[in-house]
Amino acid sequence: MTTEALKGELLAALEAADTPDGVEAVRVQALGKSGSITQLMKSLGAMVVEDRLRVAPQYQALREGVSAAIEAKKAAMSRAVLDARLAAERMDMSLPATLSTPGSIHPISQVMDELSEIFADLGFAVAEGPEIETDWHNFTALNIPPEHPARAMHDTFYVHPAGGGERMVLRTHTSPVQIRTMMAQKPPIRIIAPGRVYRSDSDATHTPMFHQVEGLVIDRGIHLGHLKWTLETFVKAFFEVDDVTLRLRPSFFPFTEPSVEVDVGCSWEGGTLKVGGPASSVVGGSAPSASWLEILGAGMVHPKVIANCGLDPDEWQGFAFGCGIDRLAMLKYGMTDLRAFFDADLRWTRHFGFGALDVPTLSAGVGA
Ligand code: DAH
Repeated sequence: MTTEALKGELLAALEAADTPDGVEAVRVQALGKSGSITQLMKSLGAMVVEDRLRVAPQYQALREGVSAAIEAKKAAMSRAVLDARLAAERMDMSLPATLSTPGSIHPISQVMDELSEIFADLGFAVAEGPEIETDWHNFTALNIPPEHPARAMHDTFYVHPAGGGERMVLRTHTSPVQIRTMMAQKPPIRIIAPGRVYRSDSDATHTPMFHQVEGLVIDRGIHLGHLKWTLETFVKAFFEVDDVTLRLRPSFFPFTEPSVEVDVGCSWEGGTLKVGGPASSVVGGSAPSASWLEILGAGMVHPKVIANCGLDPDEWQGFAFGCGIDRLAMLKYGMTDLRAFFDADLRWTRHFGFGALDVPTLSAGVGA
């Protein structure tokens, strides 16, 4: 067979091949170990020189021509495969995109951050405790023994004890974090403990779960004056007002002695209650444009509580306070319904929530 005829045969086979395997078969048939062109090339070795010089260029040209045709066919095939994939997987860019809705920071989280920031400026660390608490930490250690009437105000949710141990409760306040902190750390202690608390209560002004922040200072020679200054500094920084008056009213909590309830002086401005205002308008509480608003309970830590934590109350004294975070947020950011905090209604969170990058920052922190 002439090289021309062989070339014609191989190219026809190549033409007929319509799969990558078919093309590969033609390659093996022509250029494989015992392929037809390979055989021709091998035959050159046995030829006399004149013949070899005559036919070698033809064989060479045949080999190059067929190789090039095979490569071209392979390339065309993989291009066709790619084109088919691109056509099949084409994205329709004309479809409307699903908009991603940016989340927002819940006002409670925002206020917790603000509290941590203010108290960090005053040298307070943030402490935490479990929400499923032992009866002892939640009540007994805080000087609320089993028969104490104060327990009735803290009606809560009880949890079956693990392994037949002590009865557990969903903590009714953040005060058990005081106990855990005093038992775990040596004084001096300065902590705040923001977190979730639970009570079996539900109406327009009470939700079964709400948020408190606890404060605790234990050191030598601590007195009520330290408490008042700390709370005043906190209220000024949190509400970003300078002219604010606090009123301490005698009260009772089993875990503090003396105990106080703390009111903040407010003034009415165009129908909304604003924290602060000229002291003269609130002192005495009689001016119609002014009101007192109770914001927290506080007192000097009861010596029994200090002793319950293994500390000597003759050596260590301190103050504590407990404050509802939800109410602080309502007052600062002007929400009127407590329940909306827990409704998970995105319209509400979009309205009152804070974007991650445009959160209000406290204008000045706590001045030295
Ligand atoms: N634990 C109290 C409550 O939930 C609030 C409280 C009052 C906390 C006085 C304190 C405090 O630390 O000193 O009603």
